[in-house]
Amino acid sequence: MSVDSLNKIREYCRQYGFIFPGSEIYDGFANTWDFGPVGVELKNNIKKAWWKRFVQEDMNTYGVDAGILMNPRVWEASGHVDSFSDPKMDCKKCKQRFRADNMIEEHSAGKVAAEGMTNEEMEGYIRDNHIVCPNCGGFDWSEIKQFKLMFETSRGTVEGAKDTVYLRPETCQGEYVNFANVQRTARAKVPFAIAQIGKSFRNEITPGNFLFRTIEFEQMELQKFCHEKDGMTFFDDYKKRAMDFVADLGLDREKLRYHDHDKLAHYAKAACDIQYKFPIGWEELNGIHHRGTWDLSRHSEFSGKKLEYQDPETNEKYTPNVIEYSIGADRLTLAILCEAYNEEKVLEDDTREVMHFNPVIAPYKVAVLPLAKKYHSEKAIEVYHKLSKCFMTTYDESGSIGKRYRRSDAIGTPWCITVDNETINNGTVTVRDRDTMEQITLKIDEVVDYVQKRIDF
Ligand code: GAP
Repeated sequence: MSVDSLNKIREYCRQYGFIFPGSEIYDGFANTWDFGPVGVELKNNIKKAWWKRFVQEDMNTYGVDAGILMNPRVWEASGHVDSFSDPKMDCKKCKQRFRADNMIEEHSAGKVAAEGMTNEEMEGYIRDNHIVCPNCGGFDWSEIKQFKLMFETSRGTVEGAKDTVYLRPETCQGEYVNFANVQRTARAKVPFAIAQIGKSFRNEITPGNFLFRTIEFEQMELQKFCHEKDGMTFFDDYKKRAMDFVADLGLDREKLRYHDHDKLAHYAKAACDIQYKFPIGWEELNGIHHRGTWDLSRHSEFSGKKLEYQDPETNEKYTPNVIEYSIGADRLTLAILCEAYNEEKVLEDDTREVMHFNPVIAPYKVAVLPLAKKYHSEKAIEVYHKLSKCFMTTYDESGSIGKRYRRSDAIGTPWCITVDNETINNGTVTVRDRDTMEQITLKIDEVVDYVQKRIDF
C-alpha cells in the first residue's frame, strides 16, 4: 500500500528525523525545510548516486562548484532579470497570495493552459468562472501582477552605493560561464559536459506541497556541449539515461512518464520533462532541454568574450549547442520518500511502517543491536566500530529486539545485525533483511563484504 497523502509523509519525516519544518521553534518559515540526521544521509546518497552515474562514470563530464552569487550581468544575459516572474494575486479578505496560472489550471483540471495568457485574460477567466480563494472561500481578488522570482540582495560597504546582486535561481549559469575555463584546463573535446550540484533560490508562492516546490532547493544539473548535428542524439540519450537513473534508484516505472513539450522557447529545439506520479498527481521530476546555441551566444554577447570551439581535426569553428539535464535533489528525495513508504501487516494483529529504500541510498546501511544490553553491548559496540568504518551504521540497545527492528524498518535500514552469545563464542552475527524479514548467520568478518556487494550502484 502506498501513501496517498503528502501530509502523512511530511509528518512521518518529522517524526523519524528525516525532515523538520524550517526554524520550527519560531513557528516555522513557510516553504523552508531542514534535513535531520536521517534525511541528510538520504539526500547525500541520492546526490552521490547522481554524481557517480553522470560524472564519475562518464569520461567526458567534468564537475564544477560555481558561486551562488554571480555578476548580475549573468542574469541579464540569461533573461532572468527581464522575465523570470510569476503572475500573482492576493485575496483581499485573508491576505494570502496565490499564483493565478496555477489556480486556473487546477480549476480547469489541466484543460486550460494559463501559460501564454495575459494578466487581463487570466483576470477575466477567474471572474467568469468565479474561482474563489482556496484558503478562505472569499471572492475579492487584487489585480494580477508579475512577481519577480529572483531573490535580491545587495553588495557594497558604503550605504547608498550598493549594487543589487541575486541569489542564483538555477545552477546551470555557473556551467555556461565556465565553458571556456573547463574546456581549456581539462583539454576537453566537444562533445563534453559540465555538471554541478548546488543550491538555488526562488521566491515561490506555493500551496505548501512539502518539498515539492520550495524557496531554497538543490539542483543537480548537467550541460552537454555538442555540435549541432549531434544535438538530438544527445537529447534522446539523456532522456533515456535520466529515466533509467530514477528507476534504478527505486521509482516504479509505472509511476514515471515522459512529457514532451508542445510549446518551446523561441531558441529551443526540443524539451521534455520526466513526470512522477506524486500523491498530488503527475508532476515534473526533471527536465531535459535542447537549448541550441542560446546560452553560449548570449553570454558571449553580454561578456564580450568568445565562447566558441575549434574542432582540432576539421578546424571548424562553432558555438556548441547545449543539451541540459536538470533535476531537483529535494524533489527527487520527496519522490523516493513517497515511493519507499509502506504500511504492512506483519501478523494478524501487527503492522509495521517501513521504508523500502534501495540499499544504495538508504540513510544507514546497518543497525547493530545487542540482543541483551547487559551481556552483549560491549561486543556490539566493537562490531559497530568495525562496520562504521565502511558505511553509515546505527547502534540501538534500548527496548525489545522487536521494537528495535521496527525502528530500523521505519528509517529504511536494510540490515539489522544482532549480537548475541554466538557472537561472543563463535564470532557470528544474525543478519535480518528489512524487506523479507528473514535472518541468516554470518561471520563478523563477512558482513562488510555482504553489505558492500548489495550497495553497488
Ligand atoms: N536550469 C533549468 C531549470 O532550472 P527548472 O525546470 O526550472 O529548469 C529544474 O528546474 C528542476 O529543478 C525541476 O525539474 C525540479 O526538479 C527542480 N525545481 C525547480 N524549482 C524548484 C522548487 N521551487 N523547489 C524544488 N525543486 C525545484
